Amino acid sequence: MENLQEKLEEYYNKNYLPMHMPGHKRNVKLLGEKLPYKIDITEISGFDDLHHANGLIKNIENKARKIYGSKRSFILVNGSTCGILAGIRSVINFGDKVLIARNSHKSVYNAIELNNLNAIYISSKINKYGIDGNIDVKEIEKKIKENKDIKLVVITSPTYEGVINNIKSIVSIAHKYNIPVLVDEAHGAHLRFMDNLYNKEALNSGADIVIQSLHKTLPALTGTALLHIQGELVREENVARELSIFETSSPSYILMSSIEECLDILIYKEELFKEYENNLKYFYKETKKLQKLKILGNEIENKEYYDFGKIVIITKNTNITGKELADILRKEYKIELEMSSIDYALAMTSICDTKENFIRLLNALEEIDKKLENKEEKENKIEIVLPEKKMNILDAIKNNNSKYLNYKETEGKISKEYIWIYPPGIPLIAPGEIINKEIIQKINDYKNANIEVRTTFDKFPKIEVIE
Ligand SMILES: Cc1ncc(COP(=O)(O)O)c(C=O)c1O
Repeated sequence: MENLQEKLEEYYNKNYLPMHMPGHKRNVKLLGEKLPYKIDITEISGFDDLHHANGLIKNIENKARKIYGSKRSFILVNGSTCGILAGIRSVINFGDKVLIARNSHKSVYNAIELNNLNAIYISSKINKYGIDGNIDVKEIEKKIKENKDIKLVVITSPTYEGVINNIKSIVSIAHKYNIPVLVDEAHGAHLRFMDNLYNKEALNSGADIVIQSLHKTLPALTGTALLHIQGELVREENVARELSIFETSSPSYILMSSIEECLDILIYKEELFKEYENNLKYFYKETKKLQKLKILGNEIENKEYYDFGKIVIITKNTNITGKELADILRKEYKIELEMSSIDYALAMTSICDTKENFIRLLNALEEIDKKLENKEEKENKIEIVLPEKKMNILDAIKNNNSKYLNYKETEGKISKEYIWIYPPGIPLIAPGEIINKEIIQKINDYKNANIEVRTTFDKFPKIEVIE
């Protein structure tokens, strides 16, 4: 079967005169070869069309479908973001009621806004390190029973920190009421290939729409992702149409080649996952010896529903914050982490990490650990409760009867903005919600730990509130 990258190279060598986009015209004499201009084409004859695929691109989609066992898979070049926007809109009508995991990524909230959805939120339990845990499946059933008009359930699994939800149980409840389940599996494209996680993966657990970023946990270029569907509750045609709205009409062939290359690695190099799992096992075994720092995977109760590829390093009860740990690793060891927060920092791993990479991180943590001091148990002071919702996100965003206040003066006010820590981009407050005392205290905590608080209009410490 033809491979996209080979075909792109072959095409370049044929020396066609490009009287079409892109404007760089493959002129490597002028532009140099540092960037891949030679194979950066647009949808010309013989190269298929992303939004009407029936050739080379369809082949890639079919590869994804076979590997992941979906009814249909779409390749995405605008990240999971466009898949989430399109996936949600493909099954709801404007103004519908939806059940949304509160720890959703901002793209889910953007879908709520664009479609003026009435979102009912479901929280996950926050553990003692301030990390989101599993969603209570019974709570989902309760909410569905209370709100018979829910049209969609949206769950994130795994979370940014690697917590996997019991999608099988969630799906079986939602399907009893004929409600489709969309899983934001942006962090889980690799689960299928990991021992013991195969059956925790969303498609295998019966989810109707599953969106996965290839670029987050697999060897693929930034921006690449997949959207899979299965079952009878989602119309293929609706998803395709929504993707043509939310995804570019000029898809990058470089990104699409990267998707194909990634899928080929999944088909032909499965042994890489064995090696990866061995490296992780070694890392977790060795880190049990740390005295002050802890690794979440060694501590977590529900190990069955956890992706050990996410190395969450806990600094709670030491004299440094997660952010300070990340700074030390960067400055003294040239190790850059994915994110850091008050009580922890997160290292992301993949099959492309060699044993040497794991040892380098391990050695650095061992050295740092020796220099740390124990600090008295500081219990998580603030239990975040779901803020009260006064209006839908869209209504709040469009309400111009508003003013800016310093965040300390906003208690009891309705926010017109999101308040986020990014990453992971899960809102502390969404537009239309009442800012409460606990949220203000939480913001203080983040500020004290030098963690940047972001808001929609970027005027923090001022927040726009509705009068
Ligand atoms: C849970 C989750 N969902 C969706 C996204 C969006 O993915 P992408 O960056 O591929 O658009 C992210 C990105 O960080 C994420 O963490």
